Amino acid sequence: MPTQNLYEIRAISGYKVYYYDEVPSTNDVAKEIAKRTREQKAVIIAESQTHARGRNRRHWISPRGGIWLSILLRPKVTPEEATKLTFITATAVAGTLQNTLGLATEVKWPNDVLLNRRKLCGILTEASTRENVAECVIVGIGINANIDLQSFPNNLQDSVTTLKHELGCEINRETLTRNLIQSFDQRYKRLRRGMWSALLQEWKGLAKFLGEKVVVTSFAETLVGKALDVDADGALIIKLQNGALKKVVAADVKPVALSSSG
Ligand code: BTN
Repeated sequence: MPTQNLYEIRAISGYKVYYYDEVPSTNDVAKEIAKRTREQKAVIIAESQTHARGRNRRHWISPRGGIWLSILLRPKVTPEEATKLTFITATAVAGTLQNTLGLATEVKWPNDVLLNRRKLCGILTEASTRENVAECVIVGIGINANIDLQSFPNNLQDSVTTLKHELGCEINRETLTRNLIQSFDQRYKRLRRGMWSALLQEWKGLAKFLGEKVVVTSFAETLVGKALDVDADGALIIKLQNGALKKVVAADVKPVALSSSG
């Protein structure tokens, strides 16, 4: 049985759909489309990507069978506001996985969706700005869907997972993608109506790492502490081992076993 069927989505209500077999990165294609069209809302989907990016320009493995897409929006907000889109996207992914497949996932600051504590989905939000206004925002979403775990290098096999690995079967990517865009759009509309606080609360309800001991690694330093909260700007607040509170705006967060806490 072929394990990686093509899926082709031509339209999702309110979003123009651009569908490709293979591209370097759907985020880059979305930027090109933003430059040459006036699309207000579009989704760029590819079966595979050759040069996909994750946060901090890390390579993102994108073989056939995954859900690799970028949402193009023109919300005319500050770049700081645009980061809120990452949070509402993560809750949209988690909600869609729950409603469509019955899977209980969790979110991890700043941009991950985890299943059984392993990374299932990553989100990369990028904005093109002029005079402190995000002229267009691209929300890139990568979901490891119908992919064998063995497709990932050995050193990642303990930290990532795929829907196929967890469920033991392939899922219908078309249904999941449609539901995801609809779920995202509902939250995007609520965000536009000023409902950020409720949306952040929703995200926090899925953030199981809050209250846990974490190692926080940024380009400047590595910190160990307890993840206390995420503030209204989306920054992570951690309580360091000396009791001081520290606000973190960009870093990787890794929960560590509480038994090793000091
Ligand atoms: C991360 O967790 O570091 C973010 C990963 C984002 C990957 C997606 S796949 C679709 C889109 N195109 C890209 O090049 N990256 C994003």
